[in-house]
Amino acid sequence: MTEHVAIVTGAASGVGRGLAEVLTSGGATVVGVDLDEGGLAAVAAETGCETRVVDITSAAANDELAADVVARHGRIDMAFLNAGVLDHEPGSPTNIAELDTSRYELLRAVNLDGVVHGVISVGRAMAANGGGSILATASVAGLVGYPPHALYSATKAGVIGLVRAMAPSLAPDGVRINAICPGGVATPLVGLDPSVADIRDNILSPTALAAEMVATAQSDATGQAFSAIAGRDPVLQAHPFAPVPGFS
Ligand SMILES: NC(=O)c1ccc[n+]([C@@H]2O[C@H](COP(=O)([O-])OP(=O)(O)OC[C@H]3O[C@@H](n4cnc5c(N)ncnc54)[C@H](O)[C@@H]3O)[C@@H](O)[C@H]2O)c1
Repeated sequence: MTEHVAIVTGAASGVGRGLAEVLTSGGATVVGVDLDEGGLAAVAAETGCETRVVDITSAAANDELAADVVARHGRIDMAFLNAGVLDHEPGSPTNIAELDTSRYELLRAVNLDGVVHGVISVGRAMAANGGGSILATASVAGLVGYPPHALYSATKAGVIGLVRAMAPSLAPDGVRINAICPGGVATPLVGLDPSVADIRDNILSPTALAAEMVATAQSDATGQAFSAIAGRDPVLQAHPFAPVPGFS
């Protein structure tokens, strides 16, 4: 990975932090992106990554980020569009009477709009500079529909749909795009400290998932969704399109 240039969104915590660790230890130049300036500073001190405080829900901010990375480093080899939020506290079920529509606006803005804007900005920059690989963090919730987090499931299904449908348009310019769909990961998002990952069933550590994500980004795959489930061998499982009879 030496000489590779990677963008990681959501780099101040959890999976993004794990990505910064795995990528920098492999010799890549990493631009860690987050809203959390203090968290980014801690990750930078630990990994030596560069940092940018960016709100990924803004199309203009995504354009500026991609242009800035290309200006500084000449290209973007990998982009991990990973930042995300939950629709409500983990552990409580979806309750139609209590769904918070303002929370939904934030959820959609971060989990779906942020990925759409990132794909457009980074995809154009990669296409203009020799290609690259985009990996969006979706969720098993987007593959199966997850009743405890129904609105979250909708945003993650949107990410998977975007990835699958966008891949053919990016391929001629040498840009690959895939989605990773984790089950459980020990991160603050779900109220779990990364140190518990090894002792809990079905919970991946952020660095174990990050290593799988980096390998996926470096593979030849495109337009694919991969589940990532602790305790499965292999951890990653591909989920191909099912054809629809009568529709081509
Ligand atoms: N933890 C799990 O069990 C799990 C399971 C499946 C999928 N995921 C997905 O993995 C990804 C990473 O989540 P995590 O578990 O590491 O969570 P986390 O809360 O530890 O990290 C998410 C990071 O995203 C950042 N962020 C939020 N909004 C932002 C914005 N507008 N602009 C820039 N940064 C922003 C946060 O500040 C935070 O640092 C998310 O997309 C999440 O949906 C997590």
